Amino acid sequence: MTGRGELRVYADAEALAQAAAELCAETMQAAVAARGRCGVLLAGGATPRRAYELLAGEPLAQNIPWHQVHVFWGDERCLPAGDARRNETMARLALLDRVPVPPEQVHAIDCAGAPEQVAEFYADQLHCFFAGRPPRFDLAILGLGDDGHTASLLPDAAALAEQQRWTAVTKRPEEPFARVTLTAPLLNQARLVVFLVSGQGKAAVLRAALTGEQPRLPVHLIRPAGGGLLWLADRAAASLLAEGGGTA
Ligand code: 6PG
Repeated sequence: MTGRGELRVYADAEALAQAAAELCAETMQAAVAARGRCGVLLAGGATPRRAYELLAGEPLAQNIPWHQVHVFWGDERCLPAGDARRNETMARLALLDRVPVPPEQVHAIDCAGAPEQVAEFYADQLHCFFAGRPPRFDLAILGLGDDGHTASLLPDAAALAEQQRWTAVTKRPEEPFARVTLTAPLLNQARLVVFLVSGQGKAAVLRAALTGEQPRLPVHLIRPAGGGLLWLADRAAASLLAEGGGTA
């Protein structure tokens, strides 16, 4: 599978989570070994939770150099710290409260303030972290919404056209909160982008994402320039793909 990455299909959600956790562990270890630190971008939503839990548990957690890991988020809902709807809250409960990442290396999107200011401030944090070097996350975990969004790059959002800035503000009309998201120009510089897609409900959108079916979806913007692109899906999510019958 060229251009749109490599698809790996697993029997069920648990097998998908296990494979995702193992891949994350391997990638983080390799990044620290090669460059002395690892920049990881976490996704929100429900799908990654189990993988985060497995990553925080044995045997994986004991072999990860957590003190050299820096954690960022691909997007966040502009809600107060601790709100159950925040992507940070899920990641802390499933992973970060259980592993020894130094607190100053957990770079949450602090939503105290106007969303535009929050987005600017997070971009500043990202610039500080990359400190003039190419802004390449070692691992960017992303989810896929059933409308084809990823991170909070929502359909029809102005942020989809962003070519320079690293962060943007988006909003769903039906949600009482805004969102801050990383933009495609930054996401596409990652060394490895890994989509986690689970469930029958994602079968149609995964097929559209991988076949380029029209209409164009936000997820189609994610084409890592020099990095890898992996799609880890369970059989249910891959059920509408020709190769969806096989499993890794
Ligand atoms: C968010 C997420 C979002 C998520 C997809 C898939 O804040 O909503 O970052 O991009 O990854 O909506 O969500 P599920 O894993 O819950 O299907």
